[in-house]
Amino acid sequence: MEILNKETINFVKKHFNNQIPDIGIVLGSGLKIFENLENQKDLKYSDIPNFPKSTVEGHDGLISIGNYENKNILILRGRFHKYEGYSWNKVVSPIYLLKELGTKILVLTNAAGGINRNYEPGDLMLIEDHINFHLIDSNERKELYKFLKGRRFIEYYNKELNKLILNSAIEAKVKIHQGIYLSLPGPNYETRAEVLMFRKLNIDAVGMSTVPEAIWANAWNMKVIGISCITNSTYYEKTMSETSHDEVINVAKTASSKLDLLLKEFIKNL
Ligand code: HPA
Repeated sequence: MEILNKETINFVKKHFNNQIPDIGIVLGSGLKIFENLENQKDLKYSDIPNFPKSTVEGHDGLISIGNYENKNILILRGRFHKYEGYSWNKVVSPIYLLKELGTKILVLTNAAGGINRNYEPGDLMLIEDHINFHLIDSNERKELYKFLKGRRFIEYYNKELNKLILNSAIEAKVKIHQGIYLSLPGPNYETRAEVLMFRKLNIDAVGMSTVPEAIWANAWNMKVIGISCITNSTYYEKTMSETSHDEVINVAKTASSKLDLLLKEFIKNL
């Protein structure tokens, strides 16, 4: 079963001289980190044959490979969402590409709304666990079933790597929460009534991505961690104001500097 065909995979392998990334990092909306890796080489999504195109503002649509602390890092600057009209196979195709390149560790990042009242815009949250509100189409559920080969995961975020993130956060002096991430289909943000419901369900942050990537990556034997950058609060009952995508992108820029410090320390400690 192919999510991306051989031509696509071979094109990327050739462009990056068959380098095997130790770590793959998916960047969420507006997040900009590792802008200058050693020996960095870039590839636009639009230059890759049969690769989906990023349509969301704040997503560059670029793959970068380079080195940091003697590790080979691949950054996916931009992801695909179901609400852009893509099938699940397209949404998870960058993760499939990483698997085909031989990557074993996956860092998923996202921009998320803070449901927990203690979270402020600009904060980071390590995803301890998730809730999936996406409907996965029956055909693609069947394909996932084949990838699972009889396994039934209940834990998607690697405990050892999570510990390493928490220790790295202490060393890098970056504050990080730990919490539950809810993934919704979007593209609309939550109503006040939904926010109140999510709080009752002990959900800490909400977004529209990451969970499908974590599910498929586990099926492909990758070790996964997830980090949310809280870009907006959802205290509508207090502020009565709506959240705009522009606001999300602006706060994401600030959160990027914390994420950059944290992931650099993490990679050093790996
Ligand atoms: N809701 C859903 N997705 C989001 C939000 C939000 O408040 N902020 C960033 N992505």
